[in-house]
Amino acid sequence: MKKIGIVTSGGDAPGMNAAIRAAVRYGIYLGMEVYGIERGYTGLINDTIEPLNMRSVSDIIQRGGTILKTARCPEFKEKEGQDKAIEIIKKRGLEGIIVIGGDGSFMGAKILSERGIPTIGIPGTIDNDLPYTDFTLGFDTACNTALDAINKLRDTMTSHERVSIVEVMGRHCGDIALYAGIAGGAEMILIPEKKFTINGICQKLVNSYDSGKKSGIIVLAEGAGHAEDLARELSERTNFVVKATVLGHIQRGGGPSMVDRILGTRYGVHAVELLKEDIGNRVVGIKNNKIIDMDIVKAVSMKRKFDQNLYNIAQIVSL
Ligand code: ADP
Ligand code: F6P
Repeated sequence: MKKIGIVTSGGDAPGMNAAIRAAVRYGIYLGMEVYGIERGYTGLINDTIEPLNMRSVSDIIQRGGTILKTARCPEFKEKEGQDKAIEIIKKRGLEGIIVIGGDGSFMGAKILSERGIPTIGIPGTIDNDLPYTDFTLGFDTACNTALDAINKLRDTMTSHERVSIVEVMGRHCGDIALYAGIAGGAEMILIPEKKFTINGICQKLVNSYDSGKKSGIIVLAEGAGHAEDLARELSERTNFVVKATVLGHIQRGGGPSMVDRILGTRYGVHAVELLKEDIGNRVVGIKNNKIIDMDIVKAVSMKRKFDQNLYNIAQIVSL
């Protein structure tokens, strides 16, 4: 393969630029031409595709977001939009496509693969919700951002002897809450994968108070409830002053952590290696610190993972 395109799609994630940079430079190193497709699948439909060179990707490894821009493109979910995209890919002579994005973007990548365009998916989403890989790109940075907020909230909660609810992202997957919560020593972690009751939370707060803890941090994944509502309920039902903080899109931005820069670089290189060998229809990932690849159809049909062991540990060490 000599001519390939890269697209970032769906929610952005820190580390996407590191992956673009690595794919461009490794592709050029192997003698390929690399093109950047702008604004997700919209760029394929509208033909906004530009050549990338060594200098186009200078000074980006440390930047959050994506230099290619990203978008949600409902048109690409329809056959008509897909037909247009494939026509443009052929007109441009692109022999392979790298899609950096989350599970939605991977559905699009699967369709391109099925329609004869060799496509490689790089998991780029802060949610860490792709079951075939241990870690998605951007997750580590998002957790560190959440952790920084937890640390700061901890200072003022301790001084005032209050409880803080920190709402983090994750509609279906509680990994940001779980990892940032454990790392921040949270007293409670509330996630969509685990049912809880308000009574149960109140009881835990009271027990915690009786054991000597006069303040606390509750990390709440957005898919498990709303911080403001929960803070109101807990304030009414206990003697604690409970404050709510919603971190929101802050978690999606910022310079990528070292982990995400390295991961993005490894993912980008591996994706290009596959296309160079004329291998498509796969997604790259990491398992036990080894870069892997897997059939895209298999990857998108895998069941959601949940680290029950880590959750159990969180329960024990938070007491
Ligand atoms: P993410 O990739 O972060 O999960 P989305 O779920 O919003 O984000 O998906 C990003 C884009 O991927 C969508 O706007 C659409 O262009 C494409 N996409 C999502 N689902 C499908 C699908 N079932 N078929 C084709 N394209 C899809
Ligand atoms: O999928 C990434 C993510 O940041 C989720 O954690 C969050 O629920 C969602 O995207 C927010 O999407 P939007 O940027 O469209 O508000």
